[in-house]
Amino acid sequence: MGILEWATSPLGQRVPIHIEWFLIWVALIGGLVFLIVHAIYVRYFSGEPEVASDPSTAALKLPARIPRHSLAARLFHWIMAAAMFVLLFTAFLPKIGVEFNWITYHWIAGTVLAISILFHIVHATFYLDFWSIWPDRSDLEDASKRIRRFLGQSKDSPRKFAKYPLENKLYHGVVMLSGLAVIGTGIFMMFRVRTIFFPRNPYLFSDMTWGMIYVLHGLAGVGLITLTIVHVYFAIRPEKLPITASMIVGSMSREFYLKEHDPNRWVIKGLSHHRSTADGD
Ligand code: HEM
Repeated sequence: MGILEWATSPLGQRVPIHIEWFLIWVALIGGLVFLIVHAIYVRYFSGEPEVASDPSTAALKLPARIPRHSLAARLFHWIMAAAMFVLLFTAFLPKIGVEFNWITYHWIAGTVLAISILFHIVHATFYLDFWSIWPDRSDLEDASKRIRRFLGQSKDSPRKFAKYPLENKLYHGVVMLSGLAVIGTGIFMMFRVRTIFFPRNPYLFSDMTWGMIYVLHGLAGVGLITLTIVHVYFAIRPEKLPITASMIVGSMSREFYLKEHDPNRWVIKGLSHHRSTADGD
């Protein structure tokens, strides 16, 4: 048993048709194992994280609420999240025995996801602080400090975070790749079914190419099961709730901001600060 299901094309060629659906369970169980192991680790093994504090930040005049996500960024997040859940359930419930007419809901949610991501790319590129979500040199220096502290090789404290910790940035990178993969392949797969966009044309590609498109769609799709579980788990962890709340109300308390973030690395707009402004999604 491999991870792909194969068939023989009319030309007698062996072609992949899609992934084996047991991978759904692998992705589901993988996500659950991750969160159990993580929760046990945090509860019993990890001490209070130590970070270097910067006394100059105490003098900053900060408002009681720190703006974190603009209304547009929040609307994008929740529309994208709704589309993602519809896509996951319509894709995988029928594969594990819950039969219903899923395809129409699936391509509609797929279209919503594709448009929302298109909006997000333009919004993040031109209106948000584009570089805030990509790993930079300080992230790598701090990651290496954390690893050396963990191994007991050094006592150097990492700095507090900028707007997004390295883990969030890496997560965003992986979700972005899987998301672009399902969208890119999904748009072509719409030629195989009846939609409102273009006439059906199952002969657009050879059987081999179609097979590879379905395989990529499926692999990125099951990957998104694990990624979604991990994301929701972090969103509901007690110490992360202020961050989750900020995705609803748009802001977080000054105390939380100063505890977790370095005001020199995440500069808040409108403060008497020498660096340029930063707003973000
Ligand atoms: C979380 C994101 C997504 C997941 C988990 C997902 C998963 C799946 C799965 C498992 C299938 C069944 C494929 C098969 O039978 O081999 C499928 C089919 C399909 N997907 Fe997605 N998909 C996602 C996003 C999208 C997007 C963004 C689009 C469109 C832009 C899309 C369009 C389609 C279409 C049209 C089919 C039907 C193909 C057919 O039955 O011939 N999907 N998807």
